[in-house]
Amino acid sequence: AIERTFSIIKPDAVAKNHIGAIYNRFESAGLKIVAAKMVHLTKEQAEGFYAEHSERPFFGALVSFMTSGPIMVQVLEGENAVAANREIMGATNPAQAARGTLRADYADSIDENAVHGSDALASAEREIAYFFAADEICPRTR
Ligand code: CMP
Repeated sequence: AIERTFSIIKPDAVAKNHIGAIYNRFESAGLKIVAAKMVHLTKEQAEGFYAEHSERPFFGALVSFMTSGPIMVQVLEGENAVAANREIMGATNPAQAARGTLRADYADSIDENAVHGSDALASAEREIAYFFAADEICPRTR
């Protein structure tokens, strides 16, 4: 089915000028970018987005990293978009990410791992709504 998923290019990859290379991977895989913007998260925004991880030992480092510089947030649309994006990204830990995936090619560590992608359709809906109003998403008609 055609799905939408939520994607972040994290501060490490933005700082290293990898935005275009990462967008090329999405588009080459047939995913369409139907919404996008650059934002520099506040501490409150990062804590809210990652609320499900608030009890994890890495939460403080995660919030500090995600607020360390601008990020790109985007909505990707396509066939099985949630799973397709997770395949493009590779494993959370770049040391375990398959060859040719974004994390293998652009991430340095599990903490600074270049990209985020929704893990399920329900989280995709929640994460898209966290960053985008309905009228900021542009369905493709051609
Ligand atoms: P992300 O998909 O953005 O969701 C939470 C982030 O926490 C994750 O990517 C990792 O970058 C980071 N993180 C750091 N340590 C861990 C860990 N042990 N397990 C999962 N995520 C971790």
